[in-house]
Amino acid sequence: MAVIIDGKQISQQIKDELKLKVEKLKAEGKTGALAVIQVGDDPASSVYVRNKKNACAYIGIGSLAYELPEDTAEEELLALIGELNGKPEVKGILVQLPLPGHISEDKVIKAIRPEKDVDGFHPQSVGAMAIGAPGFLPCTPAGIIQLLKRSGIELEGKRCVVVGRSNIVGKPMALLMLRENATVTIAHSRTKDLKGLCKQADILIVAIGKPQFIGAEYVKEGAVVIDVGIHRDENNKLCGDVKFDEVKELASAITPVPGGVGPMTIAMLMHNCVQGIEGDREG
Ligand code: GUN
Repeated sequence: MAVIIDGKQISQQIKDELKLKVEKLKAEGKTGALAVIQVGDDPASSVYVRNKKNACAYIGIGSLAYELPEDTAEEELLALIGELNGKPEVKGILVQLPLPGHISEDKVIKAIRPEKDVDGFHPQSVGAMAIGAPGFLPCTPAGIIQLLKRSGIELEGKRCVVVGRSNIVGKPMALLMLRENATVTIAHSRTKDLKGLCKQADILIVAIGKPQFIGAEYVKEGAVVIDVGIHRDENNKLCGDVKFDEVKELASAITPVPGGVGPMTIAMLMHNCVQGIEGDREG
């Protein structure tokens, strides 16, 4: 029976550490705010945006919310980003994704100054991460590294399999694990013998976006299983990419959904905002 990795508790610990740091920075006269931009009123995005604003209030940093209508022109959004890029008190800029179809996410991501790219999505941030240079790290993969480290799970020398190759999770996850001296394989929908490969993993990170896809037959006894997925099942209950009930019997540690990886993303966003206020991006 696996240890359940409590992402809520670990994210709370991180936010409490950040709160103290923010107080110290204030005493040194260092303050700043996160600007959050939402285009349209997708309900899931509205929940994420609200959680981000609440987290800023909790750790004691400012937040500026921009709620733009669905039909906002791309140029208008780019102009707002340009304006925020030039405001010294704005230390982080986050544009909630996905954006409406008529706006290029690529252009928007590239418009944010890398010094304010608290999502870590700008090509300069991605390149810096790849070579270990200073830059913001993407929040979900950085949060997973924190979950593992703070749960006492050693990465060095371990066989890690990342299932999923997205720019936001799979690819950066693999790079961050490599940085921790793990041996990393990225698997995806075209991987041959996915089951056989996953079964070799000491640490299995699942980010495939398919509800309850990974069952016990994919997992080695004693493996650590991290579930990045979030879906609603047929009963409208939240579930992940992993069949939690059967995999927990076999794994040595596992993250639940909800309450595993999800809360870590916001904690790491706050971490990045505080780095932005310190003027010292992490390497
Ligand atoms: N939409 C879903 N996750 C994220 C995220 O981490 N950052 C942004 N900007 N949008 C998202």
